[in-house]
Amino acid sequence: MRHYLQFSDLTTDEYAYLFDRASLIKKRFKAYEKHQPLVDRTLAMIFEKASTRTRVSFEAGMYQLGGSVVHLTTGDSQLGRAEPIEDSAKVISRMVDLVMIRTYEQTKLECFAQNSRVPVINGLTNEFHPCQIMADLFTFLEHRSSDKNQKININDLKGKVVAWVGDGNNMANTWLQASSIFGFKVHVCTPRGYEVDPKVAGMTSQNSFEIFRNPIKACEGADLVTTDVWTSMGFEAENEARKLAFADWCVDSKMMSSAKPDALFMHCLPAHRGEEVSAEVIDGPQSVVWDEAENRLHVQKALMEFLVLGHQ
Ligand code: CP
Ligand code: NVA
Repeated sequence: MRHYLQFSDLTTDEYAYLFDRASLIKKRFKAYEKHQPLVDRTLAMIFEKASTRTRVSFEAGMYQLGGSVVHLTTGDSQLGRAEPIEDSAKVISRMVDLVMIRTYEQTKLECFAQNSRVPVINGLTNEFHPCQIMADLFTFLEHRSSDKNQKININDLKGKVVAWVGDGNNMANTWLQASSIFGFKVHVCTPRGYEVDPKVAGMTSQNSFEIFRNPIKACEGADLVTTDVWTSMGFEAENEARKLAFADWCVDSKMMSSAKPDALFMHCLPAHRGEEVSAEVIDGPQSVVWDEAENRLHVQKALMEFLVLGHQ
């Protein structure tokens, strides 16, 4: 049994397989062809934080695969009344085939997985957001395919430069993990006090990232510029302090113009126009944020199929 708790839980070859599979699943979806390998299987989704994309993509995705979904939140389950995670995991995993969890500390997710009889997927923790980065990489590969038939080839990521302009948060940590798996480089630029901690990210290679102090310099030569909200869920008490610290970390057209002319812009969403990104950039021609959001559906369908049934 395999879990997907952080990006490094899968190998480069497994990602290559999943991206191929996601392409096929996406083609079938667009052609209204059924792809239902998970008939009679059930996914439990546990949300301890808010969500739009993760909820819709996992729920719609599981129904499209032929299965069904149970949706739980802290407020409407015994999770919010201090039932131990171990007990919840033992019970829930006897009744379903797969569990997706969005929670706070990664340790909570790990505790659930250790006590689960079925695969567990990270739908976002304070430390990581692996499903999002899987969708982001798939989106990059679709837009930058070197193949004449637009086939996805993970080697197209090799040697590329991704500029991370923003908080050293769950998204930043996950980009760092992905860089050593796919052989691209991350230019990380955060305000002082909001740096990434390579140890938290679980980095195996020091060569795949470089720290910058100036966001414009970080964007120089980038193939992809990406950012995220200044204040992540769970950190709302720091909102005012963060607004001051991040004032110069707005991805605007000046920053984009220091990247490569064909650089893409990504944001996991939800976005705050005028804070971490200007409206001109997120709604402009280099932005691929809507493809990025849609691809959550396709890559996660491939992931769910893989975790429940293995290679097809
Ligand atoms: N990007 C993302 O995970 O969005 P939601 O918070 O809406 O799920
Ligand atoms: N870093 C953000 C991502 C939201 C999808 C958060 O954790 O709130």
